[in-house]
Parts: sequence; structure tokens; C-alpha cells
Amino acid sequence: MLIDDPAVAWTAGDEVHLWLVPFEPGGEAKGAERFLTARERVRLDGFRNVGARSQFLAARAGRRLILAGYTNASPQALQFRRGDAGKPFASRPEALRPLSFNLSHTTKLVALVVAWKRRVGIDVELASREVDAMSFARRFLSQREVAALEREARSARRAAFYRIWTLKEAYLKALGVGLSVPLDSFSVSLAPGGRLGVEDDGVPDADQLWRLFCYEYPSNHVVSLCIEAARGEVTPVVRVRRASLQELERRADATGATGSPALETGSTR
Ligand SMILES: CC(C)(COP(=O)(O)OP(=O)(O)OC[C@H]1O[C@@H](n2cnc3c(N)ncnc32)[C@H](O)[C@@H]1OP(=O)(O)O)[C@@H](O)C(=O)NCCC(=O)NCCS
Repeated sequence: MLIDDPAVAWTAGDEVHLWLVPFEPGGEAKGAERFLTARERVRLDGFRNVGARSQFLAARAGRRLILAGYTNASPQALQFRRGDAGKPFASRPEALRPLSFNLSHTTKLVALVVAWKRRVGIDVELASREVDAMSFARRFLSQREVAALEREARSARRAAFYRIWTLKEAYLKALGVGLSVPLDSFSVSLAPGGRLGVEDDGVPDADQLWRLFCYEYPSNHVVSLCIEAARGEVTPVVRVRRASLQELERRADATGATGSPALETGSTR
């Protein structure tokens, strides 16, 4: 289970920060809209579905408010670009370039992982969603993962499936490759109570280079992280901070990031 650590501050270092921004569909923080760019606001206004709108607002405003905290820039001044397979990175201000982040969202939670000079990936899923775990697994997962699921008691299979699924996705998102890598070309291991690991045919020492974490979060969320590490490096410490959009807004207001309209360039997404 994740333990909130209010002492986590917006400082760069060896630690990895996991930010969790819970929100209620439709119960959105109107004030957060001012932290979006003009283009993001146009997208926001285009949502007909209340839940999708709240999710977009929480993800985009949350990302700006949190990442801006690591620099002196105002949230709207941040500019993002995407890598070849769509992974977003911060292109402005310059001070944010060594920072890496990755985001995942469900209908009620935005999860953002932030690290300094190391690649990271995150995936969050609602494990209460009905899924035929074994047939999904046989279709998409590696033989090793299918065998691991078969060893689980029937009643535990769905939860184990979601752990594998989110860990795999976190790994792909850390690499930033999207689904160009076949899902059965690598395996995550789920040793109960033991260390999580990844084995990848194309990366001989994947298990050394990538450290995996899997957590439960209330209301049946599973949150998985994949963090790049140097060979032989001690596994980085992950510190967790939970904050509502309103709390993030209050902090931005207190530090003078007031929410004036953003400058946009053609390449900002
Ligand atoms: C990014 C991707 C890999 C995950 O998407 P998802 O699970 O549907 O959604 P998540 O909420 O976890 O993540 C979406 C966020 O990831 C980020 N993202 C987008 N492309 C990315 C990439 N190539 N690498 C890393 N992060 C990426 C973005 O911030 C995106 O948020 P945005 O749409 O608000 O900009 C998606 O492109 C995809 O193809 N998913 C397929 C799901 C699947 O089959 N997974 C296999 C798991 S075993």
C-alpha cells in the first residue's frame, strides 16, 4: 500500500517522486482551468463526456502544476514535446530538461512519476474491472507470465494479472517505445514478497537497468513504476506525495504562479 509523505518537496535529486492526484469525475476544480494553455482549454471545452473532461483537466493541470514546482517557471509557461512514439517530455524551460516524468490516468486518479536524469514509466489501472485474466494472458503475455498466472490460486489471478499488465506497460512507457515492442518478447516476474524484475530478450541486463515497483492504492487501483538505474546502483528510493488539484493550485498561488494566459508555440502539445 502507498504511504503518503507530505514532506516530499519539489527538489531534484536521486530520489524518485510519485505524485498521486485523485479527482472526482464532474466534481472538478474549475480554478485549475486557468493553468492550461489556450489550446488545452479548447480541447477541454470539446469534451462532451463529464468524466473524460475531468480526467483531461486533472491530467493536464496536474502535470503543469507539479512539474512547475521543480523550477521557477509558471505552470502555463511549460512546453512539452513528444518523442517518436509519443512519450511527452518538457522542452521549456531549459531547467526542466534533465527532469523526466511519465503520467498515467484512470477515471479517478492521475499518477505522475518524476525523476532526475533517469528514464521512468508508470501505469495505473483499476483492478476492479472485470477481465478474463487467463484468456487475455494467453493472447498477450509471455509464456513465462502465463505460467506464473497459472500457478496463482484462481481467486488471486485477476489481481496478479493486473500487476503483470501494469508492470509491463510501465516498462514500455519507460522505454518510450509504445507498442512497437512485442508484448511477449519480455517478461516481468512477480515473486511473491520478492524483488520484481524484468527479462527482455533484446536487453541482456534489463534486470539490472530497470527497477520495478508495484503498489496498491485505494479503490482497487494498481500503480506500477519502472525506473532506470545504473549497473550496480542501489535501487532508487521512491517517495509518494498525494495532492488534490486544489492543493496544488493553492501552492501555485502562494508562490506567485498566478495563471495568466500561456504563450504557445506551434510545436507545444
Ligand atoms: C501510452 C500507452 C503505451 C499507454 O496508454 P494507456 O494505458 O492507454 O494510458 P495511460 O493513462 O497509462 O498513459 C497515457 C499517457 O502516457 C503518456 N504517453 C503517451 N505515449 C507514450 C509513450 N510512447 N511512452 C510513454 N508514455 C507515453 C502520455 O502522457 C499519455 O497521457 P496523455 O494521453 O494525457 O498525453 C498507449 O500508447 C498504448 O498504446 N497503450 C496500449 C495498451 C496496451 O496494450 N498495453 C500493453 C500492456 S502489457
